[in-house]
Amino acid sequence: MPPHDELRRRGARVLPPGNSRASLYVPPSPPYAVTGAGAVVTDAEGRRLVDCNNNYTSLVHGHARPEVVAAAVAAMQQGTAFGLPTEAEIDLAEALTRRFGRDLRWRFANSGTEAVMMAVRAARAHTGRDLVVRLDGAYHGTYDQVVGAREPGVPEAVRALTLAVPQDDEPALVQAFRAHGGRIAAVLVDLMPNRAGLRPLSPSFVAAVRREATASGALVIVDEVITFRLGVAGLQSAYGLAPDLTVLAKIIGGGFPVGAVGGRADVMACFDPERSEPIHWGGTFSANPVSMAAGAAAMALYDEAAVGALNASGETLRGALADAGVEVAGRGSLLRLFLDDGGTAWWDLYRAGVLVSSNGLMALSTAMTGEDLETVRAAVVAVLG
Ligand SMILES: Cc1ncc(COP(=O)(O)O)c(C=O)c1O
Repeated sequence: MPPHDELRRRGARVLPPGNSRASLYVPPSPPYAVTGAGAVVTDAEGRRLVDCNNNYTSLVHGHARPEVVAAAVAAMQQGTAFGLPTEAEIDLAEALTRRFGRDLRWRFANSGTEAVMMAVRAARAHTGRDLVVRLDGAYHGTYDQVVGAREPGVPEAVRALTLAVPQDDEPALVQAFRAHGGRIAAVLVDLMPNRAGLRPLSPSFVAAVRREATASGALVIVDEVITFRLGVAGLQSAYGLAPDLTVLAKIIGGGFPVGAVGGRADVMACFDPERSEPIHWGGTFSANPVSMAAGAAAMALYDEAAVGALNASGETLRGALADAGVEVAGRGSLLRLFLDDGGTAWWDLYRAGVLVSSNGLMALSTAMTGEDLETVRAAVVAVLG
């Protein structure tokens, strides 16, 4: 039996239909990865692909970048996790603060989902209110309070605490605040929501979010789990927005599990165990030194010059695809193609040697050469042009 079919057969028995993460599912079944090196991933059949998925945008330097691996190995050799804090979490928090250039406080988790959950908790604790406003179609992980309206298993009582408004619909936002203003704890926004089509929010809508939230005493939480790679201080800097809380994950772990909340000192004070009735921020592996060290190494290599060069590659690629008649959205190093639900285009790209996310999201990495980018361009134009 070919290696893929054998893995699929075993996987189907224990992880139906064959693996854990629903986001990786492509019909009839996704290929299994075996190794990654730089911009290339190799699957169980020995096929080599230019990786534009990069573990859903998180591997900004591609696979196994030597400096990041060295930092992780050095950390591992000194013990992978402790029942004591370590200097590594301070290092990463300082590095992130420097990038934003604002006086921020931080807490680390193991995923973006957890970080979103804790940011919402902080907003509720800070404001003493319950409602969360979010944008239709945006994905913020799997926390009950922020999943889509049709996601099964979410109690009605929880659903009722979320108000969804369409992206860029300022009247709907204003109406939500008019109707519920005194009960809204936070507006949660992704400035360029991937699952809603990877189109940046309009600056006027973002300004309205800030204005309405501030006027009503609600907080602004910006989810930069995907978009942080677009600027040294994420996409928020392009909008001149200083959110009350920012959620990060993905690239800041250097390829290891991570999530983070950063924000204003007075809001983040709710996590301070020295204050009365703090929010208990736990997590056995939160701020583990391996994720922290790998993340710090990855961030050190992703300085202003690297961010600018990667975004420029993305703009060049997007322009070339658009010129060839391909519908493509996004900004900088994040691109979004529009694929059919049946997986036909995804597989055509795969066979042409390019791995994209199942919904057509593509994230470039600093490991990509001009030749890799040309492979991507040619494949996308052949399949979708
Ligand atoms: C914008 C956004 N927020 C939050 C999350 C959740 O992050 P994680 O998968 O690390 O839980 C994701 C994951 O893709 C995301 O894209």
